[in-house]
Amino acid sequence: MRMRNKYRKPTTLRCNAGSRCSFSVVVWSLVGCLLLLHLSSNFNHKDGGGRGVQLRITHHPQFRELQEVEEENIQIPPPRGKRSPRAAKRRPKRTTTLIDEFLDENSQLRHIFFPGRKRAIDPLKNAGNDSYYYYPGRIWLDTDGNPIQAHGGGILYEKYSKTYYWYGEYKDGPTYHAHKKGPARVDIIGVGCYSSKDLWTWKNEGIVLAAKETNETHDLHKSNVLERPKVVYNDKTGKYVMWMHIDDANYTKAAVGVAVSDTPDGPFDYLGSQRPHGYESRDMTIFKDDDGLAYIVYSSEDNSELHIGPLTEDYLNVTSVMRRVLVGQHREAPALFKHQGTYYMITSGCTGWAPNEALVHAAESILGPWETMGNPCMGGNKMFRLTTFFSQSTFVLPLPGFPGSFIFIADRWNPADLRDSRYVWLPLIVAGPADQPLEYTFEFPLWSRVSIYWHRKWRLPQGWAGFK
Ligand code: DGJ
Repeated sequence: MRMRNKYRKPTTLRCNAGSRCSFSVVVWSLVGCLLLLHLSSNFNHKDGGGRGVQLRITHHPQFRELQEVEEENIQIPPPRGKRSPRAAKRRPKRTTTLIDEFLDENSQLRHIFFPGRKRAIDPLKNAGNDSYYYYPGRIWLDTDGNPIQAHGGGILYEKYSKTYYWYGEYKDGPTYHAHKKGPARVDIIGVGCYSSKDLWTWKNEGIVLAAKETNETHDLHKSNVLERPKVVYNDKTGKYVMWMHIDDANYTKAAVGVAVSDTPDGPFDYLGSQRPHGYESRDMTIFKDDDGLAYIVYSSEDNSELHIGPLTEDYLNVTSVMRRVLVGQHREAPALFKHQGTYYMITSGCTGWAPNEALVHAAESILGPWETMGNPCMGGNKMFRLTTFFSQSTFVLPLPGFPGSFIFIADRWNPADLRDSRYVWLPLIVAGPADQPLEYTFEFPLWSRVSIYWHRKWRLPQGWAGFK
């Protein structure tokens, strides 16, 4: 008895309220411990295995460079021709914006958005000081010296041959309107495929899924629409599976098509199309998760919402599971990626071929709920950020060896001449607390910040495996 009192003494001495007080000390210590535990697990879960990774990326000298915010100062030229004071009175002049200039084929700024041939990225000719630099918006030539035709595309990494395959819309034909109110279009030519070891030098592997010239009832008849092809490899069947948006010239069919091949460089056999889960499907993508399950994501219900659902084990069909996400948000051009167990998705607004503001969304489970975090674009100028650097998302490629770092891949569409649409590749980094976290747990933000950094010229870090 005495002994026990002796050992209890120090606590009770400082505390006049006796055992009630020691109880409260224990309770508060427990609360403190729990809070610390929660804070540390939240931090590790989100940013980290996280914290170390975040530090590695943000402090890696070459990534620091990529995260520098580069400003653009483009002066809008004065309006062409003088307006009479009377005319000015009749219709007050609308201020010209950079987006008007972008869409104006005769703009004096045309060469800024669509630099001419002289400033092409030529992997063979530039193979001096300029090699491995990405110049967003410049013509990009393949190893034969022809502009790469892989619009609305996606990239597959084939780990055995350590080769990247870039698939996209081969749009090397004339742009026309099927009718007065129809959108600008190019007849289907097929899906182009390019291969690369370094993500910079691309060899044309040809058209791996070709249009049908004469069969007017076929989905792939040239008068239809084939957009946003994506290819995933099925480890169980050993097949390469391509999904794509299939439509008619008026975008009323709103379906997805599937094709399959034994090799990444095709040819792919077209299996047919469907409205997934019985719903309209326009812009779409496919995402293969770490556990081997693959998912389809598509804009539906007049592009007012996205639908996400798992594919069957062989990736050749959808299952009956589907969730509606971002309902009423009118998003398209989905590009999904995953970091530290969290799913992220970049989307665009719905403005045809004209660029608009990108948003990034995050989710704990791929089937949702998805939360919108805001605009990920950094640098350039306000107009650059409000137009996703005058481009539209199509794919996000993880950079192996640098967790938290990705390449954001987008299309700078040229509606006047779609074959001359350009590519905007920029570094995308997941690190640091989100600016406007929508969800809080004990006041700590749930999501990491996703940033896409504008650079007029940039390259992958020297230590990147593709350069070995
Ligand atoms: C926007 C889509 O993202 C593109 O893939 C294409 O379908 C155009 N609309 C057509 O206007």
